[in-house]
Amino acid sequence: MHYRPMTINDYAAAVSLWQRTPGVRLRDADSFEGIMRYLARNPGLSIVAEKGSDIIGTIMAGHDGHRGFLQHLAVAEPYRKQGIGTALVNRCLDALRAESIDKAHLMLLVDNDAGKRFWTNLGWEFRTDIALHSFVLSANPSA
Ligand SMILES: CC(C)(COP(=O)(O)OP(=O)(O)OC[C@H]1O[C@@H](n2cnc3c(N)ncnc32)[C@H](O)[C@@H]1OP(=O)(O)O)[C@@H](O)C(=O)NCCC(=O)NCCS
Repeated sequence: MHYRPMTINDYAAAVSLWQRTPGVRLRDADSFEGIMRYLARNPGLSIVAEKGSDIIGTIMAGHDGHRGFLQHLAVAEPYRKQGIGTALVNRCLDALRAESIDKAHLMLLVDNDAGKRFWTNLGWEFRTDIALHSFVLSANPSA
């Protein structure tokens, strides 16, 4: 198992993993151009797990100089429960720490019970004091 920063060359393999992973919701922002922009704005913060030439895990992270944001954590089904998801999260948090980010957030689909257990076991607090509000800035409802 090998972990390394994600590059745009991983795009096709990453999308293929995300598309077969319930719990990961894709939007138009996940287009090739969207992910390329994200990686360029947040160099070194998104990580892939690689086995041979296969991408079997991903996590993406960025920050706004204040808080970190994690998304697209996915591990291919046959490789789960071996610590790969935890290793991806830890590497991602190390990269955020190195940029002096002291707190991170993530969004989880409300019906993702397994995901909720995973994050809770890693010490992530489920917030009941904050509600997420979103606004679409373009004409595209799938932005
Ligand atoms: C959530 C997800 C990324 C976890 O990946 P993973 O590689 O299985 O994660 P880990 O192996 O680090 O931990 C998973 C569990 O296996 C356990 N585990 C880790 N190593 C283990 C080992 N060697 N033997 C047995 N169990 C082990 C962990 O304790 C953990 O237990 P928990 O689920 O009760 O918390 C994966 O299930 C996934 O891709 N889910 C779908 C996508 C998703 O929901 N993503 C989160 C939305 S942001």
